[in-house]
Amino acid sequence: MVSSLTLRRPDDWHVHLRDGAMLQACAIHTAKQFARAIIMPNLVPPITRVAEAVAYRDRIRRAVPIELAFEPLMTCYLTDDADPAELERGKRERVWLAAKLYPAHATTNSAHGVTSMERIAPALAAMERAGMPLLVHGEVTDPEVDIFDREAVFLERVLAPVLRRHQGLKVVLEHVTTREGVAFVEAGGSRVGGTITPHHLSFNRNAIFKGGIRPHFYCLPIAKREEHRQALRRAATTSSRFFLGTDTAPHTADTKECACGCAGIFNAPVALQVYAQVFAEEGALDRLEAFASLNGPQFYGLPANEQRITLHAAPLSAPESVAVPGGDKSIVVFRPDTAVGWSY
Ligand code: DOR
Ligand code: ZN
Repeated sequence: MVSSLTLRRPDDWHVHLRDGAMLQACAIHTAKQFARAIIMPNLVPPITRVAEAVAYRDRIRRAVPIELAFEPLMTCYLTDDADPAELERGKRERVWLAAKLYPAHATTNSAHGVTSMERIAPALAAMERAGMPLLVHGEVTDPEVDIFDREAVFLERVLAPVLRRHQGLKVVLEHVTTREGVAFVEAGGSRVGGTITPHHLSFNRNAIFKGGIRPHFYCLPIAKREEHRQALRRAATTSSRFFLGTDTAPHTADTKECACGCAGIFNAPVALQVYAQVFAEEGALDRLEAFASLNGPQFYGLPANEQRITLHAAPLSAPESVAVPGGDKSIVVFRPDTAVGWSY
């Protein structure tokens, strides 16, 4: 029985840190676990200009104690009017690393997202030239398509043609939730990567409805059937194309526990512990460092971190919720139904 596990300090390749009081509440939890994190740009209004990303990066840095040595990696939010020159400039000036595609109305704060891939063809060509990866929320928004099929349909209808049209574009399929998503990433070669969240590895869609409707298990893409969860567990523990991306997405409890609750799971305080539990269950603890600390830097062409962290085999200890400063609101922390035997 392994009692501790030491790894290179991991990175989180998909994070929502929000802004203002939410940023103050949340950023530290990501920074305590991860050296670097790719910061999602779906603020209100979204981050579309270089100057906005610089200012947001400063706010994030100020929200995290300096001794944690946390590095936010910024992204640009693509709209129909995405400016190729602005994208290239932000990359050249080392402000942002990648750009995020939200299909319009696919998820939280995606109203300014892209309505058709033709509209952003010049932006994608610029990204291809600049070596700037496209990070994809991979769901169609067609209301005729069943919510559980939206990822698989997106791959066929939208993402495959993009890869054919832009042969040099690097793409990350974010928060993969289906076996079709796994197969798509594996077939894409070294220019295609995928991130997998701790929550999609630890529960299937039954959890959302167990004993009643449970808003803290609701996120987008929505959790799928067990066979898909099994495909994700195999991908995370065996394939170098996949890397850690928590998609930690905080919403205050009141905005989730209501008639039309927000999508998003706040897992930052427990992310590494849950991943370790999953890898232990799969008999693959020796593969956790590749998933958490090596595959991501390799995809992005960045050095792996030199510091080490140690996880201990002990029951998870984490707060049930995190308070938002300046009011009486709080954010519920993700907790799987099954036991987590790792602490950090
Ligand atoms: O569940 C989600 N929450 N999925 C997303 O794609 C966005 C995120 C958020 O920003 O809350
Ligand atoms: Zn996200």
